Amino acid sequence: MPYATGIEVTQVGPTFAAELQGINLNHPISDETLEELKQIIGKYGVVSVRKLGPKSDDDLIAFGARFGELDSIRPHKRAGRKMRIPQEEIFDISNLDNNGEIVTTADAERTATAYGNALWHADGTFNPRRTHLSMLRAVTLPPEGTGGHTEYLDAAQAYDDLSEEMKEKVKDLVACHSLFHNRKTANPDSPLFKNIVPQDHPMGKHKVVQRHDITGRSVLFINSYAHHIDGMALEEGQALIRELFDHMKQEKYMYVHHWKSTGDFVIWDNTGVLHRATIGNYQHHHVRDLRRISTLDSGPAAYGMNDPGTYWQQGLP
Ligand SMILES: [Fe+2]
Repeated sequence: MPYATGIEVTQVGPTFAAELQGINLNHPISDETLEELKQIIGKYGVVSVRKLGPKSDDDLIAFGARFGELDSIRPHKRAGRKMRIPQEEIFDISNLDNNGEIVTTADAERTATAYGNALWHADGTFNPRRTHLSMLRAVTLPPEGTGGHTEYLDAAQAYDDLSEEMKEKVKDLVACHSLFHNRKTANPDSPLFKNIVPQDHPMGKHKVVQRHDITGRSVLFINSYAHHIDGMALEEGQALIRELFDHMKQEKYMYVHHWKSTGDFVIWDNTGVLHRATIGNYQHHHVRDLRRISTLDSGPAAYGMNDPGTYWQQGLP
């Protein structure tokens, strides 16, 4: 379907996800194109552009900032960590260390992060203010067939298909999200998280069912950060989360994005879809360098049940 600005949209997933043609993000876009793009992202949840994404990290930051306030990794910098990429808005989604060498399993924290990101999640739901859009540009890709694709789930369709009984059961529930819960689940034997009890740390509290700001559709807002249900016995809440999660993870809700070329670019809406990284054979053998930025949600549900006056960001000290 062509838009007024010449953007052509081809749906590439079963119920969501689109590839765009007729748009070149090597150059700044007009306000009109920006507005259309916001609508398309809201409707499809995941949109990709082949080869013609923003050309540099600064271009990526400038592009992303037009969609909203950008999240940043300042807490890491404040903690004195050296970053490979200097811009604090860029999340380093690569398998490279600060010297540009491929990370090995000897780097326990990076390995734990990689496994954590391979579980289904929406970025930043463990924070008091949730993340809205994430944008990922491909700088260097591993050889074809060595893995590293990104997978997505349609959380609106998953909600639609719930039984009426389940919709009634979950409509007012609040889930408590924890980064540490995800990391412990993904790395059960890692000494890094052994002594961390998720409940000892603040959690992001967000409603299990959210109304999407653009489409008005209901969305199932559960992912691998969801540790328990607020006000419900721990076991009972975790069993319910598991049940909802098992439902969402069905292949009929999934789109697999294969990265093909440098310059490939994907934008997804964390308030409507889940995603996960895949761990492939490339991991310890070939460079895979992608750069991410994210916007913070500015909608009515941005802070969920959290106090907008508080700020914390979870992570290892
Ligand atoms: Fe992510």
